[in-house]
Amino acid sequence: MTNTENNIEWRGLIDRAVSLADNVNTAAYLQLATFDDDRGAQVRTLVFRGFSDNSDRLFMATDLRSDKVKQVITDNRVQVAWYFSEAREQYRLSGTMACLGSSAVDQEPRRALWNAMSLSVRASFFCDAMGQEPKDAKELAASATPPDYFALLSMTISEVELLSLAQSPHMRRRFWLGDNGWENERIAL
Ligand SMILES: Cc1cc2nc3c(=O)[nH]c(=O)nc-3n(C[C@H](O)[C@H](O)[C@H](O)COP(=O)(O)O)c2cc1C
Repeated sequence: MTNTENNIEWRGLIDRAVSLADNVNTAAYLQLATFDDDRGAQVRTLVFRGFSDNSDRLFMATDLRSDKVKQVITDNRVQVAWYFSEAREQYRLSGTMACLGSSAVDQEPRRALWNAMSLSVRASFFCDAMGQEPKDAKELAASATPPDYFALLSMTISEVELLSLAQSPHMRRRFWLGDNGWENERIAL
C-alpha cells in the first residue's frame, strides 16, 4: 500500500494518538537517540515542536552548545522513540537530523519556532555555560530575533515503526519511504 505525500497514514495515526492524550504533556515529550564516537548511543528527552506541512520532517529546539549538536554534525543518523500512553502506541522514527542555527540559509522556520516558544523557555538560551541566566534574560527573551545559541532541529523521517499494545496480540507495522511514496507492511513481533 502506498500513500500520497499529503495523506501519510503513519502521520494520521500519530495525530490520533496525540488527540487521545488527556493531558497535553503526555504527548509533548519524545526521546531522541544520537551516536557519539567515544560514548556510543546517547538518548535524551526533548519537546516535540511540530511536523512540516508534508509530514516528512519533525521539529525540535535545542542549544547549539549541547552535545547532541556535535553528535549530529559527526553522524546525522538519529532515532526518536515516542510513546502515547492513552493510545497505547509506541512510534520509532528513523532518519537524519539537520541542525539549523543563525547561519542557515532559510531563517523563516527557525524564527517561527522561536516566536512560538514561551518567554521562560526563550530566556534559557541566554544562560551561560553553567545554566545561569543573566539579570536581563527576560528582556532579551522578548526579542523577535533568535539568539545565536538557538537551533532548530529538523529531522527528515525515512522510516516509522509502530507497536500497538492496544491490540491483542500486539501488532507491529513498518512504514518506509520508497520510490513511489510511503509504503508499509506488518512485521513480526
Ligand atoms: C521533560 C524534558 C524536556 C526537555 N526538552 C528539551 C528540549 O526541547 N530541547 C533540549 O535541547 N533539551 C531538552 N531537555 C533536556 C535534554 O533531555 C538534555 O538533558 C539536554 O538537552 C542535554 O542533552 P545532550 O547533552 O545530550 O545534548 C528536556 C528534558 C526534559 C526532562
